[in-house]
Amino acid sequence: MIHDHSEGHIRFLQIHLGGDRNFCYLIGNGDTGEAAAVDPGFDSERFWEIAETEGLNISTILITHGHSDHIGGADKLKELTGAVIYGGAEDKISGAQPVTDGQIFPLGDLAITAMATPGHSPGHFCYLFEGRLVTGDILFCGKVGGTGSFFPGSSARQEYDSLHKLLRLPDDTFVFPGHDYYGGEGQRPHSTIGFEKEHNPFLTAVDFDAFSHLKDNWAQYKKEHDIR
Ligand SMILES: [Fe+2]
Repeated sequence: MIHDHSEGHIRFLQIHLGGDRNFCYLIGNGDTGEAAAVDPGFDSERFWEIAETEGLNISTILITHGHSDHIGGADKLKELTGAVIYGGAEDKISGAQPVTDGQIFPLGDLAITAMATPGHSPGHFCYLFEGRLVTGDILFCGKVGGTGSFFPGSSARQEYDSLHKLLRLPDDTFVFPGHDYYGGEGQRPHSTIGFEKEHNPFLTAVDFDAFSHLKDNWAQYKKEHDIR
């Protein structure tokens, strides 16, 4: 399934590929054909076909973090397109160039800006593109990324700080997460910073202790609030 969020020459496709309700993103400049893939998922051939159909040439592959459901097809997509892979050095992504906080990836007159957002993984990055923020696994619709022993190198404290860095973006910034985790499939595939600030229970937590407490008791909270 593809959600097309394009506007004018801004090409922006949210694509269901990958094993765990993953969202992959194709970002492009419709005037010049320049494009980037963010977290291309597993099915690189399908991803490449979609870009070809759109008349877009992928020269850059941006990785939010090194978990396999996000990077599984990156090498193959690199092979198909000749694109350069970028990802956080601390996530040790094979074949990737290190990305730095604030690094800009131009697509003609459009630009993607990398934002360091460690927490769910130590080298996690979000990518901001013309008012649209691809959040990987740090911020989902109504939820946030996992931390703890299941996620090596993760840190709840870092995640809290990174989330509050994202909350300083304008309220009308669109949030495009790495997974379709809200309710049933396609129920809320994207959000805004303003909406999450007001409604996401992890973001309305008054301080780090409350945030951390909610993380520790999330299963119970979900049950009480009928959250899937
Ligand atoms: Fe992840």
